[in-house]
Amino acid sequence: VDVEATPVRPPTEHSAVVSALPARLSNGQQLRCYQGFWVFESWAQGVVAMHRGGLVPRAGDVLLASLPKSGTTWLKALAFATMARRACPPASADHPLRRLNPHDCVPLLERPFATGRDALLDELPSPRLMCTHMPLSLLPATMVDGNSNTKIIYICRDQKDRLISLWHFLKRNGLEDLSLQEVYESICDGTCFAGPVWDHMLGYWRVSKTDPSRLLFLKYEEILQDPANTVRKLAQFVRQPFSDTEEEASIVAEIVKLCSLENLRSQTANRAGIQGMFIKFSHDSYFRKGVAGDWRNHMTREMGERLDSIIRGKLCGSGLTI
Ligand code: A3P
Repeated sequence: VDVEATPVRPPTEHSAVVSALPARLSNGQQLRCYQGFWVFESWAQGVVAMHRGGLVPRAGDVLLASLPKSGTTWLKALAFATMARRACPPASADHPLRRLNPHDCVPLLERPFATGRDALLDELPSPRLMCTHMPLSLLPATMVDGNSNTKIIYICRDQKDRLISLWHFLKRNGLEDLSLQEVYESICDGTCFAGPVWDHMLGYWRVSKTDPSRLLFLKYEEILQDPANTVRKLAQFVRQPFSDTEEEASIVAEIVKLCSLENLRSQTANRAGIQGMFIKFSHDSYFRKGVAGDWRNHMTREMGERLDSIIRGKLCGSGLTI
């Protein structure tokens, strides 16, 4: 898509709405609270525009959704490699994931909306694969109501590990002095970006229970345990199940290998200092340890237990455990 040639929406379209919203500084970023969720002030007008129906859904749309640092990059790579496998065989030397960061293969809705260039989403070829960090309740109603054709795949992660991942990521991208305690408290009190985290997870969880054909709910830890099973589940969900011939040709294993942390990290496109079309953060900062339980190396047991008990209390009765 040609970013420069895309028509731009007036930047002041929703400025009155945004200026009336509660504001706060959280983890070095200015946030506004829109409809119960904290969003970057710089994205807020775009979020309002998107919420009010700025995106015309198309048959076959697939939307990936997550809180940042839940494994979004991995999910983008797995979904992209799975959905594009016929045109781009996973073992091919010139596969897009060997040339581009996964975030440049799957656009985050909020960015083009924030810059008023959301018209470029209309230029994407079908079936569109897109991503969001917004809660379900802030997506355009046309994408989430019962008649919508949009398939949504949500990934969530143990909040203790997500918090450690977030802290490292923010420190790596300009906030060297950010304390772990500040990030910790912002998650506990619900004021981190895209929080409260429990409401974010519950919005998607509930639809996955009532309408599993529309929403696939994944957990980072389960993908770590059996990535091949996730790839099969994902393919089935987007109605592109693997054929016997593909299974015999080990296409699933090739996708898992292509999307492994080691392989992605080794690509030039994912090295330090590289910036892409859709993301402003250094590409290497998306690939760190990729394990479950790293929180134990940074937090006390008491901190872990307090966060667990807050999350447990908020998810109580929903059937969701993380
Ligand atoms: P850690 O910081 O715990 O290592 P996001 O993609 O949502 O920003 O999440 C980033 C987290 O996912 C980081 O976790 C990163 O290392 C991990 N990650 C990125 N690519 C991965 C992959 N291919 N396999 C497993 N984990 C991956």
